[in-house]
Amino acid sequence: MIGLRRGLVKGARIAALGVYVPERVLTNDELSRTLDTSDEWIASRTGIRERRIARADQASSDLAVEAARRALAAGGLAAHDIDLVIVATITPDMFFPATASIVADKIGATRAGAFDLEAGCTGFIYGLAAATAFVSAGIYHNILVIGAEVLSRSLDWEDRRTCVLFGDGAGAVVVTASDNGGIFSFDLGNDGSGAEHLSLPAGGSRLPATHETVDRHEHFMHMLGSEVYKFATRVIVESCEKVLADAEVTVADVDLFVPHQANIRIIEAAAKRLGFKSDQVFHNLDHYGNTSCASIPLCLAEAVAGGRLKKGDTLLMAGFGAGLTWGSCLTEWDL
Ligand SMILES: CC(C)(COP(=O)(O)OP(=O)(O)OC[C@H]1O[C@@H](n2cnc3c(N)ncnc32)[C@H](O)[C@@H]1OP(=O)(O)O)[C@@H](O)C(=O)NCCC(=O)NCCS
Repeated sequence: MIGLRRGLVKGARIAALGVYVPERVLTNDELSRTLDTSDEWIASRTGIRERRIARADQASSDLAVEAARRALAAGGLAAHDIDLVIVATITPDMFFPATASIVADKIGATRAGAFDLEAGCTGFIYGLAAATAFVSAGIYHNILVIGAEVLSRSLDWEDRRTCVLFGDGAGAVVVTASDNGGIFSFDLGNDGSGAEHLSLPAGGSRLPATHETVDRHEHFMHMLGSEVYKFATRVIVESCEKVLADAEVTVADVDLFVPHQANIRIIEAAAKRLGFKSDQVFHNLDHYGNTSCASIPLCLAEAVAGGRLKKGDTLLMAGFGAGLTWGSCLTEWDL
């Protein structure tokens, strides 16, 4: 790591990481038995070969609890050390109470406040930013930021344009006060004029549940893939350039770039425009698909396990998703 202007965001670091994925693997070949698709189409257009699917008795909070327990154990922390639980998700257990409230109760974080954060697939980056702000302001010391999704329940399994892209999983980090400040800079963005390109239209106050909304499959994810594709490749590049410039860091200084895992073509196009070499870029969507808010922490865990991300490395993370939202974060990896 070289040339970083330290302390853009003062006093916060990622102090622990834990992840959980369901055991059930759903391959492209298996999908093609019930859907007019093929492994060849899915793999060549998206890079995805398989994804995990939660058990029928598992909701997002159950996946989040597993990831949170693993993060606490990895960080040598007890549940009562946690001041705040933030769950970033687009597939909460229910509208209310917050999934974070359920998670805090299940892990025994009885001292902690809890809330959900909805920023599409960018939720994990938004959660990191919120936690960093709380910690840097001296309001809280230890914050659990969890990205957890059971997207398999929000997909129309008859719609080949969406259901092949997503999977279930969870990842958790603890953001902790630190003397040095491992997190350098953030960029968060939003363009609500693109809201209709990626949404789950019914069930809210705009379109409450009726027999008709169910018949029209409006309780499932709807997406205009080509619009999201164009948006994603543009905003990743702009957002990453901004956080790098803010911290006076160049692409060459970045040891690992972890983008949201939606489509390998989006990742490769953005990485190329930014000027990254392929060995600087991490992806694992071939075996998890797009797990929305869980995708970045799932990558971090795998990168650490594989020796691709080490203490002292400069890490750039970038996300995008429904909203339309985007965000990126530059940090020194400190685990
Ligand atoms: C969804 C996505 C993979 C589609 O790829 P694409 O190359 O743009 O494909 P198109 O949408 O142009 O569809 C091309 C054809 O493939 C078909 N097709 C779509 N999904 C298919 C599937 N799973 N299997 C086989 N054919 C499929 C379409 O019906 C279309 O056929 P038609 O021309 O006869 O109508 C791509 O647009 C994408 O990744 N977008 C971003 C999505 C995303 O990241 N969402 C999450 C954001 S967090």
